[in-house]
Amino acid sequence: MSGSIVPRPIAWIVTDDNGVLNAAPFSYFIPISTNPALVIVAIGKKDDGTQKDTLANILKTKKATICFPNKDNVELVQKCAAQLPKDASEIEKFEIDVRKEMQSYPPIISSTQTALFCEYYDTYNVEGDTTPVILKINFQYIEDDRINERNHTKIDSVGRVGVTFKAMIDL
Ligand SMILES: Cc1cc2nc3c(=O)[nH]c(=O)nc-3n(C[C@H](O)[C@H](O)[C@H](O)COP(=O)(O)O)c2cc1C
Repeated sequence: MSGSIVPRPIAWIVTDDNGVLNAAPFSYFIPISTNPALVIVAIGKKDDGTQKDTLANILKTKKATICFPNKDNVELVQKCAAQLPKDASEIEKFEIDVRKEMQSYPPIISSTQTALFCEYYDTYNVEGDTTPVILKINFQYIEDDRINERNHTKIDSVGRVGVTFKAMIDL
């Protein structure tokens, strides 16, 4: 499945638990509706069977900021897949530069070209270890020169193909 349904977008999700900033990538991620603007992300369990920090933080704070990897920060994205203890921050450990753009949402990763400020909407119960979480996009950040007056955007995101990253090219 992950080698055939490609490329998958990657949500690089920043959440906050009392000042401990968490960042992790998720590629079982896709938009499901424009109005309301909803995305879904499927979050599995840690190897020890406990909840991933991203899910725990979303359920606790109801907020998430979704950033997007590009070819210049893809190594950091990979590092953020490390399973750190709940009280450890990927942002601190890997010295990732972040910036507060919206007061009541987690900060954006400074190297992202766009970011979605989301609130928890729902979860979809499925059998097994995965929790598909629906998030509602309330606001969007985009770099000035990446959007034109007709709201057309140019974002250089990379996607996930199997276990590798692929850049997108125009055809
Ligand atoms: C590109 C990429 C995509 C990933 N996609 C998912 C995913 O869709 N669902 C998931 O549960 N884990 C996914 N992972 C693994 C998580 O990033 C990893 O388990 C991470 O430690 C979770 O962090 P957290 O506990 O801080 O939330 C992915 C990893 C990478 C590198």
